[in-house]
Amino acid sequence: MNKIVIAIDGYSSSGKSTMARELARRIGYVYVDSGAMYRAVTLYAIEHGMAKDGKVDSNALVAALPEIKISFEPAGADGVQHTLLNGRDVEREIRDMQVSSLVSPVAVIPEVREHLVKLQQEAGKHKGIVMDGRDIGTTVFPDAEMKVFVDASPEVRAERRLKELEAKGENVNYEEVLANIKERDHIDSTREVSPLRKASDAHVLDNDHMNHKQQMQWLLDLYNVIINE
Ligand code: CDP
Repeated sequence: MNKIVIAIDGYSSSGKSTMARELARRIGYVYVDSGAMYRAVTLYAIEHGMAKDGKVDSNALVAALPEIKISFEPAGADGVQHTLLNGRDVEREIRDMQVSSLVSPVAVIPEVREHLVKLQQEAGKHKGIVMDGRDIGTTVFPDAEMKVFVDASPEVRAERRLKELEAKGENVNYEEVLANIKERDHIDSTREVSPLRKASDAHVLDNDHMNHKQQMQWLLDLYNVIINE
């Protein structure tokens, strides 16, 4: 069967990553979490004193880009694919609030985007890939055969993210998480380079009132229609 490219974009904490990962597993495709790449670059910036208090030293970070190597380790016993920054497993650190609060300012830097988009396009060269992010259907793979745009209200997304962070033992409150989500929505959709927007040919999945199983079925149905076209 012909392999295709599947682009899943949407707002922060809309559940894209979980559904993209599971879809990839079900159909035997490679999964790439593009947000993890922006998060890994952000962690590098924090650890090298280039980002703090909501500000990023973009000149220093751009100069350091050639030194930042990002790779993925296939899912292990925990079923989660791990992100490696210069060979070090940073899967846990890149999800914390410190990284979340600085990742959108890092992701507006055009050179950072250019660098990561190239790596993402390289990963999709042979198709058979599911990638999730903000600009996958618009910039990274404008010709993707299947494009999905996931939407859900900020409040529903904040509740989901809060549960996730609490499960990891992070001490955060609902207001803080909601504020971070709204702030990232704003930065992500108003930035100049590759803003978050629905590709004109994307299928919208509004999952406010959908459970996990219904969502998966929706994706698999769409995949089957497209693959048989
Ligand atoms: O998991 P969550 O929805 O919170 O976000 P993510 O997918 O991990 O992405 C984190 C941040 O990286 C986003 O808020 C964007 O600022 C940025 N990002 C981006 O600009 N372009 C992408 N393709 C993916 C993420």
